[in-house]
Amino acid sequence: MSNERFYISTPIYYPSDRLHIGHAYTTVVADSLARWHKFAGREVLFVTGSDEHGQKIERIAKAKGVQPQEYVDAIVSTFKQLWKRLNVDYDDFVRTTEPRHHKAVQTVFQKIYEKGDIYKSKYKGWYCTPCETFWVENKLHEGNCPDCGRPVELVEEESYFFKISKYANRLLKHIEENPGFIRPEARKNEMVNFIKSGLEDLCVSRTTFDWGIPVPTNEDHVIYVWFDALTNYLTAAGYPDDQGRLAKWWPADVHLVGKEIMRFHTIIWPIILMALDLPLPKTVFGHGWLLFDNDKMSKSKGNVVDPNLLIDEFGVDPIRYFLMREISFGQDGNFSRRALIERTNADLANDLGNLLNRTLAMLNKYFDGVVPEPQDKTELDLEYAKAAGEVGTAVDDYLKNLQLNEALAKIWQLVGRANKYLDQRAPWALAKDESAQGQLATVMYNVVETLRIVALLVKSFLPDTGAKIWAQLGIAESLAEQVLADTAFGKLKPGTVTQKGDPIFPRIEEKDEEPEVEAKEEPKEVKPAAEEKKPEPKQAEPTEGLISIDDFLKCELVVGEVLAAEPVKGADRLLKLQVDVGSDKRQIVAGIALHYKPEELVGRRIIVVKNLKPAKLRGELSQGMLLAASTPDGKLELVSVSDNMPAGSRVK
Ligand code: MSP
Repeated sequence: MSNERFYISTPIYYPSDRLHIGHAYTTVVADSLARWHKFAGREVLFVTGSDEHGQKIERIAKAKGVQPQEYVDAIVSTFKQLWKRLNVDYDDFVRTTEPRHHKAVQTVFQKIYEKGDIYKSKYKGWYCTPCETFWVENKLHEGNCPDCGRPVELVEEESYFFKISKYANRLLKHIEENPGFIRPEARKNEMVNFIKSGLEDLCVSRTTFDWGIPVPTNEDHVIYVWFDALTNYLTAAGYPDDQGRLAKWWPADVHLVGKEIMRFHTIIWPIILMALDLPLPKTVFGHGWLLFDNDKMSKSKGNVVDPNLLIDEFGVDPIRYFLMREISFGQDGNFSRRALIERTNADLANDLGNLLNRTLAMLNKYFDGVVPEPQDKTELDLEYAKAAGEVGTAVDDYLKNLQLNEALAKIWQLVGRANKYLDQRAPWALAKDESAQGQLATVMYNVVETLRIVALLVKSFLPDTGAKIWAQLGIAESLAEQVLADTAFGKLKPGTVTQKGDPIFPRIEEKDEEPEVEAKEEPKEVKPAAEEKKPEPKQAEPTEGLISIDDFLKCELVVGEVLAAEPVKGADRLLKLQVDVGSDKRQIVAGIALHYKPEELVGRRIIVVKNLKPAKLRGELSQGMLLAASTPDGKLELVSVSDNMPAGSRVK
């Protein structure tokens, strides 16, 4: 990042078809990063666009009986509509059919030609039209394109060639000296091996079709579509005419691309820039693919997921959240409807939505919805506030380093901490004690203040959610004007009148049940885990007591490692366990004392119901439930897994 400026790009998408959720993934990530850096006070240029030329597009338009321009205009408008729906707020959209881009590409070509790095010769080799890629025979896989597996075509024509082999050593040196240039590390190794295996000069023009930008001095040739497309990153930065803009924005900070187009971005593109004597982008980050049933989503395989249908069904923020939280950034990840629902219910409805609801319901009940002045503070209150105020800087550090998953995990850790703090400080109990009113005010202030901070932290990732929380908090200042420094703890003004509203994330497919919206009273004593009664099956259901998979998935079952165990005073049957559940540590009280000695349990990996409402058993907080099998004659055994399963692993 130079001078607190941040230029981030997505690939420009082919208008060969409508976009799918895989394309949305890249763009949503780039949008969130761009929004965050703006929030952190940096000047941002976020660019996306459309890659409209080439043989593939020309053929599709022909097949549809329309002019290529007419065809791309229609599809590109669907791109822009989708970005609008997904709340993608780009600063520039480069269409390769625009005059400014036309000029940039011809200038780049001509400069390299004049330098002597582009020469005319004859090309004979293979071409994959769907990928718009040239291949030499020995790179083909059983005669097909090694990237997409589809048939290639023999091409024999006069072409201009770019001497990329001349720059191979310089590029290798750059990669070695700039460890952040190609990320993640595994992709860097792939690219280095590719370069070391020998670069062939690249064919950069075609003569057998017209739909492209002509070579400046030879109108019989159109410029190779990848040479054309890569230049879009300079077009957006003002090249060639606006030198001031170029000096301001070039080099780009991050080109975010899918892993299969890393070769173009980390070999061809840097060599074009070297030939132009321009600096190279600071980072090219190759993310993984969104898979469907473990296969890359692609139109030709007929396994694409339409983001518009998903938005219709689930809304925008669950989709944005899922893409950024569920998929490990840099690796492939599976998309499934079930996983989307599970994430939404667990993290958005349960953790975040419920925190907002229960907090504002309690505030209504104890303070008529008005934020109180914090008063008596315990050690725990002070420690809590300090930790909450430090999250903004930690998230910024993660995002500066493109650690997207870590950033979101950090925010949700705060949400989890706030829920736990409420359970620890139990405002419902403080409210009953005349002498604890000062403490009650502090606890309520602290949690509402956390929600204010959370709204600021999430708004770059989930713009609608940030705005909804902000509105319910009733804060007068505009959300758009808030900056990273406002995530410091204690900026919420006492006296703020909150506006409790509907749950921001109703649980999906729970429409027949009442969402949990009211303030929690002190939970009643319930039976310990092993004695929990099964609910009565519903009467007269056509499914006769069967539940759907979604019902089952409401239970968040995870592997927990028992860290400590001890008896509960005055309760023969209860043991109190400290359990690591991956995201945090829980205290769980279970009725297993007649079956296990505490020392037998330490180190054991058991199965925990993680999203059970906390309860008090003999005065001890229990934050979950263990799974155990029991026979009618009272034999009981805990369900366990081997030591190889890390704490927090999901059981389903
Ligand atoms: N037009 C070129 C890019 C030129 S950039 C100078 C192109 N277009 S594309 O429309 O085919 O793909 C654009 C991006 O979408 C690529 O980064 C690609 O990896 C990404 N994705 C396409 N399918 C995807 C998934 N299933 N999952 C994740 N990303 C996916 O290539």
